[in-house]
Amino acid sequence: MTTDVIELENVKIERDEGTTFIILNRPEKRNAMSPQLHMDMCNALDWAEEDEQTKVVVITGAGRNFCAGQDLKLYFRGTDDDPHMRARSRRAAHRWRWEKLSSFPKATIAMVHGYCFGGGFTPVIACDFAIAADDATFGLSEVNWGIIPGGLVAWAVTQVMNYRDAIYYSVTGDRFSGAEAAAMKFVNKSVPLAKLREQTMELARKLEAKSPAAVRYTKEAVRSVRGMSHAQALDYLNCKSDALKFKDPENGREKAMKQFLDEKVFKPGLGEFKR
Ligand code: COA
Repeated sequence: MTTDVIELENVKIERDEGTTFIILNRPEKRNAMSPQLHMDMCNALDWAEEDEQTKVVVITGAGRNFCAGQDLKLYFRGTDDDPHMRARSRRAAHRWRWEKLSSFPKATIAMVHGYCFGGGFTPVIACDFAIAADDATFGLSEVNWGIIPGGLVAWAVTQVMNYRDAIYYSVTGDRFSGAEAAAMKFVNKSVPLAKLREQTMELARKLEAKSPAAVRYTKEAVRSVRGMSHAQALDYLNCKSDALKFKDPENGREKAMKQFLDEKVFKPGLGEFKR
């Protein structure tokens, strides 16, 4: 494990081979998101996107919590009288939590422990995968202090929660645990806190072993077809398949077919080809 690949004020970066942890790092404030943290996250994700060693990104929080949402003091009150800073903060907040994460070219995993409130939901939803501690606490607490789940939160929750749950948790502000989040498929699964990192790494290693081009094109395809008609999807997926064939620097498709059909050294149904 190596740390501090790039220096940032409110975000820490740690590497574990091909997996890079990007860590919200204000544990004394339960990782509440300040304007500086948003800007740091933009820089961290820009860096990880270009970093060749990084195959998988894990988003998590330092200390005992994932994220207590937007920082009420620095993000809200602190920018009430500073429209320029408010606009910059909003832009940065949206850019990393949704624009960058939801279209990130490498696999992303949210690893959630402790508290995850309000604006902390967006990056969990934007990541490809989410794994939570059984006893993590999720809450759309905005209604408790007289605001709405803004900054795209209300929209994002409807992408992964069913409509009844989205309304229920947004309007009541009731909390739900990691185990409940897994039961409603808000996260892929929940595990005991003591196993959270190990289980996250198990998934990360599985993703690291796959062809980066195939992972990227697959996640882009699955995300994109959701808003399409079947006819649009068919055309798009045909084009996307052709693009992957020409763009994959490893030429994985040909290599894998050779290994299966000619050399008979691998079975696609049982794992990835030898890279
Ligand atoms: N914004 C600003 N500061 C926050 C914060 C937030 N969202 N969440 C926590 N903090 C700060 C506290 O003000 C406190 O600062 P201080 O030490 O200078 O007094 C510090 O973090 C620790 O918080 P504290 O409330 O003492 O910790 P706790 O473990 O008892 O409770 C929470 C943690 C997360 C339950 C509680 O802090 C909370 O409800 N925070 C707001 C969560 C929220 O509604 N977020 C949505 C915003 S959109």
